[in-house]
Formats: sequence, structure tokens, C-alpha cells
Amino acid sequence: MSRHESKFIQDIIKDVLNKLDPKYINVSTHVVGIDPLVHTISDFISTATDDVRLVGIHGMPGIGKTTIAKVVFNQLCYGFEGSCFLSNINETSEQSNGLVLLQKQLLHDILKQNPANINNVDRGMVLIKERLCHKRVLVVVDDVTHQYQLNALVGDGSWFGPGSRVIITSEDERLLLKVNRKCHVKELKRDASLQLFSWHAFRETKPAKDYVEVSNDVVDYCGGLPLALEVLGSCLSGKNKSRWKCIIDKLRKIPNHDIQEKLRISFDKLDDHKLQNTFLDLASFFIGRNKEYVAKVLEARCGYNPEDDLGTLSERSLINVNASGNISMHNLLRDMGREIIHKESPNNPGKRSRVWQCEDAWNVLSKQMVITKCIHKCSFIFLFKLLAYNYFVTLLNFVGFLGNGSGRGFSAGCQSIRKEFIKHRIIYKDEMLEVTPNQWSTSIWALQTAF
Ligand SMILES: Nc1ncnc2c1ncn2[C@@H]1O[C@H](COP(=O)(O)OP(=O)(O)OP(=O)(O)O)[C@@H](O)[C@H]1O
Ligand SMILES: [Mg+2]
Repeated sequence: MSRHESKFIQDIIKDVLNKLDPKYINVSTHVVGIDPLVHTISDFISTATDDVRLVGIHGMPGIGKTTIAKVVFNQLCYGFEGSCFLSNINETSEQSNGLVLLQKQLLHDILKQNPANINNVDRGMVLIKERLCHKRVLVVVDDVTHQYQLNALVGDGSWFGPGSRVIITSEDERLLLKVNRKCHVKELKRDASLQLFSWHAFRETKPAKDYVEVSNDVVDYCGGLPLALEVLGSCLSGKNKSRWKCIIDKLRKIPNHDIQEKLRISFDKLDDHKLQNTFLDLASFFIGRNKEYVAKVLEARCGYNPEDDLGTLSERSLINVNASGNISMHNLLRDMGREIIHKESPNNPGKRSRVWQCEDAWNVLSKQMVITKCIHKCSFIFLFKLLAYNYFVTLLNFVGFLGNGSGRGFSAGCQSIRKEFIKHRIIYKDEMLEVTPNQWSTSIWALQTAF
């Protein structure tokens, strides 16, 4: 029998089995670019061994973790005595008795009978151990955000019978410490991105002839994020070219609401305000900067070493730190962070907690005549005492702007400001001495220690 025939027969068998006992999970009709990762995971899971294996899938929001888990589940679920796909763990476990409901679903899907009454999570844990310890099962736990969710549903995996497999998807790499295999989902490559976008915009695998250039613009904007390609493809579908251009233009200024809402969930999930603030600082000022430099500036502001915060943000796939220590962030996450700041005061940049655009800094300062005069007079200490925290940022942006060559006649004033900084020792451990004017905005917090 040829390979093709055997695959065909396998598909028929699976189809019949699914009709008798439906298990398949619905997956988007046009899935692209994930075959290599799906193969890696399927091979690892399918290897015949008696140990219980845990596989972790992690990556930034909207990158396709759940989609990959679904595809693997659909391929392999009939090879096990029982299988269960627990979706959106985080959302469900926040409902009242949510974890108990998930435990019931797990028992029900595998045993095919309604479980005995479960009153609380601890009882559920005991039942899962008792009833499933001899069964060879495939369980997917999708979108885990806390360790207690894993503890309640799969423990360390040893609750299940020999040869069982557990797939965990999470944005938080720290929850995957005990897995046997960890897979990081990366952005889609360009070809796959264009294919996915075209599918949603034109129901074709390539853009329509007249739309190639504008489609490429959108694909660039999406940076390989399937969520964004899907949302924007659907949003542009059926519109004429001039509307496409307007929408793309607008996107560069105001990010798409649906994408933002989805991405914002991961920002809201950050444990505390300090971590959220660090994320916003990074999105505003530190992309492309070295981790050590960022840590020094942030330490002066927060009063503690932010190394752990940077590690947490990286583990949650919100930032990347490359081998040389430079920080980067997906453009759409950056835009999400900046949009949060923008919304603090949409019409008045001076009232926002951070200002990163020269135009905004200029506008704020040119409206503040007192400040501008102060710059001329260089009564700097007085000026700083007058300024609210957000004007620190603004002012330094302004200084950076002036020192950047677009001086409008103020560069001399800039130099005086710098001299004043040095004279009054408003310099954090001499670090500022090395900072060029256009970097000042990022170093502003270091100055606070002087007041
Ligand atoms: N490889 C892909 N091909 C086609 N569509 C995809 C692909 N990956 C993801 N998608 C689509 O993008 C959207 C987001 O994908 P998915 O829900 O799998 O991401 P996620 O990483 O699980 O997100 P979250 O972190 O929010 O749970 C879905 O609508 C999905 O159908
Ligand atoms: Mg998901």
C-alpha cells in the first residue's frame, strides 16, 4: 500500500471514529506556517514510551499557541484511551467554581460518564488521580496563567496512566519549568503572513493584483502576528483601495481596537503596577537599549533592581532580550503600551505619564512659556522644583530634541542646562555624563534621586 493510500485510510478511520465519538476541536480553516512545530510536537508525543510526557507551548499573545495545540490534538486524540482539550483555563477558572467545572470536564471527557459530585478543588484532584491513574490519556491545558491551575488539573503529570501526554499552552514560560519539552512559537515568516492575510482579505492565498503593495504594507505592520493578520485581513476585506489607504494611514497613528483589546489582556494580567509601569517605560523609551543600561536607569526610579521585572516580562513573552542584552518588543505590543499612555489624557500630552514623541514634547513646552523662559535663564533648580513628574520627561525629551540638531536656536540653552546638571550634581553616579542629549529622556528617572 502506498503512503498516500495509507494516509487516506487513516483519515477515513479518524472520520468514522469522530462521527461515533466526536473529539475534534474546531480549528481555523486556513492554518499556515506551523507544520514544522506541529511535527516536532507530534513526533515527541507519539514516541512509544511508558513515561508521562509534558509538552509546553509558549509565546506572545495571539501568536498561535492554541491553534498549534488544537492541530496536534486533532491529529493524535484517537491514539489514546481518553482525551480532553481544556480551553481557556484562565477565563474559566476565574468563574465561580471554575476549576471544579474544568475538573469535571476532564473526568467526563475521558471516562464518558458524569463524575461523582465534586464539591471542591481538593476533592476533584483526588478523583482525577484515582480514576485516571490507569488510563493512557492526552490532555491539553490551554492558556494557563497560574501554577495553581496546573496543580488542580494535571498535577505534575504523574496522576495519569503510563504513556499519557499533557500539552500546556501559556504566555508565561515560568509555568513550563517542569515540562519535558518546551516549544516557543515565533512570528510567522513573510510568505506565510501574506498567505494568511490574503486569505482573510481576499479568500485567496495571494493578494489581488492591484492590492499587492498595500497588502505588503499591512503584512509589515502585523510583524508576523497571526491575530493581527486575521483581524486586519477581515477588516479590509471588500473595501476599495482608497479606503485601504485611509485605514493603513490611520493604523500608523491609532492602533486597531480589536488587536489592542486582545493584546491588552496580557498587560492586565501582569501581577502588579510596578511591573506594568516597567512595561510602559520599556514601550516608551527603551526599545533597542541594553538591559544593563535600562536596569540602571529604572533602578534609580523604582528604588530596587528591576532585573527580576525584566526577566518576568521576558518570560511572559512581552519583551525579548537578545544574546547581547538588547531589549526588543513586538511593534504591536509597543503600540498597545503607548496607547495605554495616550488614553491617560488623549488631548493633552502634558498630562500623560510619559512623552516619547518630539512633537508632543515641543507642543507641551512651547505652551509652557514659563518653562521656556526658565530654560533661557537657566534657573534650573527652580525650574525642576516647579515641574511635575511628567514634565520631567517632557523637558528632557525637549532637551533631547533641541540637542538633536533641530535646535531652533536653543542649542546654546541646552548646553547651559547640561552645565547646570553637572554643577548641581543632578547626575546619578556619574552615569549621565556619558549620556548624549537625545538619550536624556530615557534617563530622566535617574534625576529624581537628586530632589
Ligand atoms: N498559523 C496560523 N494560521 C492561521 N491562523 C492562525 C495561525 N495561528 C493563529 N491563527 C489565528 O490567529 C488567532 C490567534 O491565534 P491563537 O488563539 O491560537 O493564539 P494564542 O497564542 O493562543 O493567543 P492567546 O495568547 O490570546 O491565547 C486565532 O484566530 C487563530 O485562528
Ligand atoms: Mg490561546
